[in-house]
Order: sequence, then C-alpha cells, then structure tokens
Amino acid sequence: MERGEAEAKMLEFIKKLPDEIREALDFDVPAFDFSEIAHVVFAGMGGSAISGDLAKLHLSEVPIPMESVRDYTLPPYVSEKTLVFVSSYSGNTEEALAAYGDARERGAKLVAVTSDGKLAEMAERDGVPLVRIPGGLPPRTALGWLFVPLVKVFEVSGMVQGKLVELERVADYLTELRDEFSTPDSPPFELASRLYLRLPLIYTSRRLAPVGFRWKAQINENAKAFAHVAELPELDHNEITGIKNPPERVEEMWAVFLVDADDHPRIKLRVKHTQELIRDSVLGTEVLESKGETPIERAFYLVYFGDFVSFYLAKFYFEDPIAIPRIDELKKRLANEQ
Ligand code: PA5
Repeated sequence: MERGEAEAKMLEFIKKLPDEIREALDFDVPAFDFSEIAHVVFAGMGGSAISGDLAKLHLSEVPIPMESVRDYTLPPYVSEKTLVFVSSYSGNTEEALAAYGDARERGAKLVAVTSDGKLAEMAERDGVPLVRIPGGLPPRTALGWLFVPLVKVFEVSGMVQGKLVELERVADYLTELRDEFSTPDSPPFELASRLYLRLPLIYTSRRLAPVGFRWKAQINENAKAFAHVAELPELDHNEITGIKNPPERVEEMWAVFLVDADDHPRIKLRVKHTQELIRDSVLGTEVLESKGETPIERAFYLVYFGDFVSFYLAKFYFEDPIAIPRIDELKKRLANEQ
C-alpha cells in the first residue's frame, strides 16, 4: 500500500473508535457466576492487551483482584477460581495462544476475544465462550471492539451497573472530538509537532498508566518512533535523578505529563515539582489535562488524543502508519522456529 493511502486509511481507523464502542455494546457475551471467581486475568499482547488494562481501569471498584498478563504463562494463583480473558485480534499471537493453553490446563474459566485464527478455532473446539469481533483492521485500531466486551461480561453477570451506559457516553464524547482532532492545527497536531525529532517521555499517575502505555505503543507502532513511559510517584524515586545524562540525549527529551482531575492530590503536587526539577535538563515539559465528565470519558479523551498524536507524528516522519514490518518479520521468524 502506498504511504498516502495508508495514511488516509489509518485516519479513518482512528476516527472509527467511537463507532466501534457503540457497535461492541451490542456484541453477545457470556455471563458468569462471580461468587465462584476469586481473580480475573486479561491475557494478550500489544494492541489487544491494552483492552484489558482499560477494562481494569473502568472496573476499578470491582472487589476482585485483576491482572493483565503479557506473557506465555499465567501467574501461579490461576486455578478453576480464575476467569481468564484471552484477547488476540488476529487470533494467532503465540503468547496469547500459550496463555490460553495454560488457562485450560489449570481449569480456569475462559473467554476468548478474537476476530479469527487459531484462538477462534481452539475456543470453538473446546466449547469456550467466544466473542468474535469484526476483522480486517490493524489490531491497535480495534480497541473499541476489544475493550467493550470485557466490561460487558461484568455487567451482564451483575457485577457492575451503569458501566455500559457510561461507555455509550464515551462514544458520544469521542464523536464530538473526532472532527476537531482530525484537523491540522488541532491540539494533538500541535503536540505532535512539539514531539517531532524529540524523545517523548510520557508520564502519568499509576491509575492512568494504561493511557500512558497506549501513547507509547501508538507512537512506536504508528510513527515508528521512540517513546518512553513512566509512572508517578515511582519515577520520583529514581528516574528523576537519571534525567541528566547523557546530556546530548536528555536535551532532546520532551516530557508530557498526562493528568486527571481524579489524580491523588499528592500526585498533582508531584507533577508540579517534578516538572520544575527536570525543566533545565530537558528541552521541554508540558501538562496535558484530561477532559470529560466521568473518569472513563477522561481516560478515553487522553487515549484518543494520543492516537491522533501518533498519527500526526507518523506523517511528520513520512512513515506508513499501518505497516509494522519488524513486528511481522519477528512473528514470521518465530513461527518458523517451533
Ligand atoms: O498493534 C499491533 O499490530 C500489535 O501490537 C498486535 O496487537 C500484537 O502484535 C498482538 O497481535 P494480536 O493483537 O493480533 O494478538
């Protein structure tokens, strides 16, 4: 695909997020008896894994430990009392398939979320509940389809209420934002122009870490650019001292603090002081405040903003935002070495 065409397609895919959220609200998902569930694991990689992180954020009041696992094997506590979601957009990612096998061996309750591939085949063969989502997109642009079903399982099981209505509002809010964000000179365009040719540092509170990680991954995959992510308060206990050497590199860094009204008051204070203390070493720092009424609206405001930043950065670097040749090549090489 020619770069211009890939650019137009990626813009269309990014804009589609609110539509995906709306569509996914109608997907059929299984219900579970949560009195039998002691822990929840979201297994998957890359563009599929982020859905589990965001589900945890939206379901933060559910009093069950939840963990995202980006690996081949599951934690030792996984048993028949664990609900394991295995998400893989393609259905062929080897770590996700291994996690599925591990969950089966340990008798965990399973849900597979995929568009196709071996994961769909295995789930059908094993009688595992399968949420089959539409295919044909780069996985990282299928976030709405991947994320909503995870939340919906909790709602149809009676573990939470009103979470899907909140997602309907998220979809409406993102629809309002998409025309603004799609135009050059929009806030994401401006931020991307500040990050261009610089080394982005993306800083968030621990609660918003999934959003920071989404920014990093989108900048990596869409713009083929380096980005670093870290969390407050932890970074104030180590990284803050490291933002000094080597000076020629640190002087090319641009720190973006993604902040939210719900951040702990001490985190807000830390953002202010951390910025002041690193300001003389890096090229620039800035704070981007989330907007929206509910916590999940504000998290998705930042996710959407970052998706557009990565799109504009790809444009500035003349990169095809769809192609991910190194990831494809790596998957091919590993597939040839079983
Ligand atoms: O965005 C991407 O293409 C990658 O990060 C993939 O999501 C990742 O390699 C995992 O593949 P899949 O989502 O198909 O399981």
